[in-house]
Amino acid sequence: MLSWLHSLDRHVPLRYLTWFTCAVVMLLGAFTEIAFHTGGLFAALGFLGVVVGVRDVRQRRHSILRNYPVIGHMRFFLEFIRPEMRQYFIEGENEAAPFSRAQRSLVYQRAKGDPDKRPLGTMLDVQHEGYEWINHSLQPSKLASHDFRVTIGADCAQPYSASIFNISAMSFGALSGAAIRALNGGARIGNFAHDTGEGSISAHHRAQGGDLIWEVASGYFGCRNPDGSFNPELFAQHAREPQVKMIELKLSQGAKPGHGGVLPGPKVTREIAEARGVEMGVDCISPASHGAFSTPVGMLQFLARLRELSGGKPVGFKFCVGHPWEWFAIAKAMMETGLVPDFIVVDGAEGGTGAAPLEFTDHVGAPLQEGLLLVHNTLVGLDLRDRVKIGCAGKVVSAFDIARMMALGADWCNSARGFMFALGCIQSQSCHTDKCPTGVATQDPQRQKALVVPSKIERVHNFHRHTLEALKELVQAAGLQHPNQITANHIVRRVAGDRVKLLSNHLEFVCPGALCDAIAGRAEWPHNVYRMYWPLARADSFAPQAAEARPDGLKVPLAAPGEGRPVDVVG
Ligand SMILES: Cc1cc2nc3c(=O)[nH]c(=O)nc-3n(C[C@H](O)[C@H](O)[C@H](O)COP(=O)(O)O)c2cc1C
Ligand code: SF4
Repeated sequence: MLSWLHSLDRHVPLRYLTWFTCAVVMLLGAFTEIAFHTGGLFAALGFLGVVVGVRDVRQRRHSILRNYPVIGHMRFFLEFIRPEMRQYFIEGENEAAPFSRAQRSLVYQRAKGDPDKRPLGTMLDVQHEGYEWINHSLQPSKLASHDFRVTIGADCAQPYSASIFNISAMSFGALSGAAIRALNGGARIGNFAHDTGEGSISAHHRAQGGDLIWEVASGYFGCRNPDGSFNPELFAQHAREPQVKMIELKLSQGAKPGHGGVLPGPKVTREIAEARGVEMGVDCISPASHGAFSTPVGMLQFLARLRELSGGKPVGFKFCVGHPWEWFAIAKAMMETGLVPDFIVVDGAEGGTGAAPLEFTDHVGAPLQEGLLLVHNTLVGLDLRDRVKIGCAGKVVSAFDIARMMALGADWCNSARGFMFALGCIQSQSCHTDKCPTGVATQDPQRQKALVVPSKIERVHNFHRHTLEALKELVQAAGLQHPNQITANHIVRRVAGDRVKLLSNHLEFVCPGALCDAIAGRAEWPHNVYRMYWPLARADSFAPQAAEARPDGLKVPLAAPGEGRPVDVVG
C-alpha cells in the first residue's frame, strides 16, 4: 500500500470508508434536497447506510461486521452466491463437488429428453490413473428391451420383479411433498421402485400409485407405538398395501452411519406427523440403533417376522459397512439359523443425506466399492449368494456406473441424488435450510410451487428410461444379454502409468464356498479380513468375541467397542 494511504489508515481506518461515504452521500443529498429539491433519495440511502454501519459496529455476533461496517455485508452476500458462482463459472467439467458438472448435465439432458450425445470425443484423460473402460466385443448382441429386471425374494409368497435401477431412500420430510409425488409418478410410468426413506409412507407416496419399497428404520415411523417401539399391527396394515412391494430394514446409511437423526419440531408439519405417527411440531428422533432387536440372530428373526406380517413380501436390510466383525456376525447368524434376508442394500460412505455432521459425511463408513465387495464376497464364500440379492447406492448416475457396480457384485442399483437432479436439483447444497431454490428439499409451500409435478414425473421417467437405454447399448457392445452378465473380467482400470488391470485382477474376489472351506479348516482364509475378524464374530452379539475365546488362540490387538484401537481391516 502507498505510504500516504498507510498514514491515512492510521488516523481514519480505510475499512470505514464505505460507512463514511454513506455519511457524505447522506449530507450531500440532504443539502441538495434542501437547496434544489432534488437528491432526497440519495440522502435516504446514505442515511440507511449510516444506520446499518452503526448497527454493525455495535452488534456482537459477527466480528467481520464490527471491523468492516457496511462493506462487511458483501462477504455474506458473496458467500451466499458462492455455490452458484462456482458452479456456473469456476467449476471444472469433471470436478466432483459432490457431482461434477458433466454428471449433472448428463442427468439433466436425459431427464429432459435432450440429446445426450457428445461431439469430438472424450473429455476424460484416458492416461490418468483410475481411468476405466468396459471391453467391447466384435460380435455385439441385439437386445429387444432396456427393461432389465431382477427377481427379489423368489421363495417368498409375493416375490418382486424389480427394475435394476430404482429410486433410493429419501423421506417425505427431507424432500417436499411435490418431489415425492413426482418421483413416485415417474416410478409408476417407468415400472420401477421408489424407496420411501425412513419417514414412512405419506399421502404423497400414495397419490400416484408407483411401486414402493417401505423402509423401516430405528424410529419405526408409520409402525410405532407412542413410546417409539415397534407396533406389529400397524406394520402389517401398511405392509400389506398392494403398492408396497418390499420391506427394507434400515440399519445405517453411508452419509451418517451410526448417527441417527432429528427432524426439528418446526419442520414436523401435520402431514409429516401423520405419515410418521409422531406428534406435530415436536422433534422427531431417529435413534442411532434399533430397539426391536439387539443381536444378529434377533435381527434375522425380526426380518422373518416382518416377512410374515407383510403377507410374504421380500424383506431385507440396508447398511453401510462398518466394523467387519458386525457384518460377519450377521453372516454367521444366517449360517446358524438358516434365516436369510431376501436382499441386502449396501450404501457407500459417499452417499448423500439431507443433513449430517461433516466428520460423518467425510470420514465414517466404508465407501461403496469396499462395502459391496465385502458383502458380495462373504455371501459367495459362504455359498449364500444365490439366496440373497444385493442392491447398492453411492453416486450411481450413468449407465457405466451401473455396469461397474454389477461387475463388482450388485444385482441392482439405487440412485438418490441422480433422481434429485432429474427433479431439477441444482446442487446448491442448502437442503438443510428449508430454502431449497428448486422446491425439491423444502417444506415451504411457496417454494414447493417451483416444482411442477406433471412435468417432473416425465423427467424422472425419462432419466430412468434413457439411462437404461444407454446401459442396453453398453451390454450390447460387450456382446452380452443382460447387465447381470457383466463381471469384473469386463472392466479394465489404469492402475498406474502404463499399467492396466482387469478389475478381476485388481480387486479381491472370493471363490464360491471358499469361506466354508476355511471355516472347516480345509483351506486358507481367502483374505486377511476373514482370517482376523471371522473368528471374532458372534451370531448372538454384535460385539466381538474376546481374544481369549478365539478358537485359534490368535491374539489380535482388538478391543470391544470403546476399549481400544481396532486393527487395519485390509490386512
Ligand atoms: C436428501 C436425502 C435424503 C435421504 N434420506 C434417506 C433415508 O431416509 N433413508 C436412507 O436409508 N437413506 C437416505 N438417503 C441416502 C440415499 O438413499 C442413498 O443411499 C445415498 O444418498 C447414496 O445414493 P446417491 O449417491 O445416489 O445419492 C438420503 C439421501 C438424500 C440425498
Ligand atoms: S437444489 Fe439445493 S437445496 Fe434443493 S435439493 Fe438440490 S441441493 Fe438441496
